[in-house]
Amino acid sequence: MRTQVGIIGAGPAGLLLSHLLYLQGIESVIVETRSREEIEETIRAGVLEQGTVDLLNAIGVGERLNKEGHFHEGFELLFQRKRHRIHVHELTGGKYITVYAQHEVLKDLISARLQTGGQIRFQAEQVSLHDLDSERPKIRFRQGSDGEWQDIVCDFIAGCDGFHGPSRPSIPAARRTEYQKLYPFGWLGILIQAPSSAPELIYARHERGFALVSTRSPEIQRLYLQVDPRDDLANWSDDRIWTELHARLETDDGFQLIEGPIFQKNIVSMRSFVCDPMQYGRLFLAGDAAHIVPPTGAKGLNLAAADVQVLARGFSLYYRSNQRDYLDRYSEICLRRVWKAERFSRFMTTMLHRDEQHSPFDQRLQLAELEYLTSSRAASVSLAENYVGLPLEF
Ligand code: FAD
Ligand code: DHB
Repeated sequence: MRTQVGIIGAGPAGLLLSHLLYLQGIESVIVETRSREEIEETIRAGVLEQGTVDLLNAIGVGERLNKEGHFHEGFELLFQRKRHRIHVHELTGGKYITVYAQHEVLKDLISARLQTGGQIRFQAEQVSLHDLDSERPKIRFRQGSDGEWQDIVCDFIAGCDGFHGPSRPSIPAARRTEYQKLYPFGWLGILIQAPSSAPELIYARHERGFALVSTRSPEIQRLYLQVDPRDDLANWSDDRIWTELHARLETDDGFQLIEGPIFQKNIVSMRSFVCDPMQYGRLFLAGDAAHIVPPTGAKGLNLAAADVQVLARGFSLYYRSNQRDYLDRYSEICLRRVWKAERFSRFMTTMLHRDEQHSPFDQRLQLAELEYLTSSRAASVSLAENYVGLPLEF
C-alpha cells in the first residue's frame, strides 16, 4: 500500500492532521491500535482553547461543538475559602473557554474522516516504523495476530501515537534529547449525574490538596481531586471522595457542591516532558508523542492541535511548491510555543497542588502567587492569555 502521509494514532493529533491534509488534497492513512468504540469512550480532556475551536469550525467539524459545548467567559480560583473570578473574555479581547469533551471531538473527527473517504485502520497490531531516513519510510502492522503483515509505503510518517507509542523511540537515542519532570501528584477524576454546581470551572487550592470542578453537560459533571499518583481506586469509596471534595471546595461565600451518583472514576499521574527535536528524517512527531504537560493548564489536546496545523502547512508547501525548508523547521517552530505551554502548565500545577515537600515558606508563596494573580490586572491578563492559548506562530 502506498500513501503520501502515513499517520500513526487516531487521537486528536492524528485525526486532525488527516482531515487538514484531506482538505488540501493530500492523501493519508491512519493506523491505530484501538477500536473505534474504545477511542470514542475514553474519558480525557475537557477544555478547548479558542484557537482549537476556531480550527474545528474552519475545517467543518464544529457543528455539534457549537450546539453542545459550553462557552465560558471566565473561570474561578478558589483559595482560603474564597472564590476569585478571572474574567478571561474581557482580559483577552473577547476569547472564550470552551468545555467540550475530548471524546466528543474524536467522534466528530472520526465521522468527518469516514464520511470523506478517509482511511483509518483500527485495531492494528505490532505497529512499527522503518526506513525513516530514506525517501520511502514504511509503517508495518498486522490486523489480528494471525493476519498478514501489511506495509504502508509513505512519503512521510506522522507519529501521533501519544506518549507510549512506537514513533518517538524510533528516533535513534543519540539524535534526540528528552527533558522530563515528574510530579508526586495524581488526579482522581469522576463523572457524576447531577446538575452543575457552578456556571464556570473552579480551580481550588486547599491545604488538603487540589480540586477542580468542571462540567460535561447540564446533567453530567466532571470533578477532579488531587491524590497520590500510586493510590488505588479501591481506596476511594464514593463517600470518601465526597468528603474530600466538600472539604476542599468549602467557601464562606455560599458555594454549594451538588452531589450525584458517580458513574466513572479513574486516576491519572502527571509529568512534564519534551522531546527535542520533534522530527527525524521523514518522521514528524505531533501531540503527546512529542510532549506532555500536567493537566492543570488544560493544554495537552490544544498543543496537539497546534502542532498539526504547523505540520499540515509544511506538507502543503512541500506538495504544492516543492519547498522542504518549512518542514525542516517544523520542530523549531512548534517547540517555541510548546515550551511556553510547558512553563504555564508547570506554573499552574505547582501553584495549586499540595506538595508534601513544601515548607511553610513555600505554602505562603503559593498563596502570595494566587493573591497577586487575582488582584493585579497585569497578572490576571497574563494568566488569562496563557489559559485561552497563546497565538499560533507559523
Ligand atoms: P493521544 O490522545 O494519546 O492519541 C494517541 C493515539 O495513538 C491513541 O488513540 C492510541 O491508541 C494510538 N496509539 C498508541 N500506540 C499506538 C501504536 N503502537 N500504533 C498505532 N496507534 C497507537 N488537554 C487539553 O487540551 N485540555 C484539557 O482539558 C485536558 N485535560 C486532560 C485531563 C486528563 C485527566 C488527561 C489525562 C489529559 C488531559 N488533556 C487535556 C490532555 C489530552 O488528553 C492529551 O494531550 C491529548 O489526548 C493528546 O492527543 P494526541 O493525539 O497527541 O495523543
Ligand atoms: C478539565 C480538564 C483539565 O485538565 C482542566 O484543566 C480543566 C477541565 C476537564 O476534563 O473538564
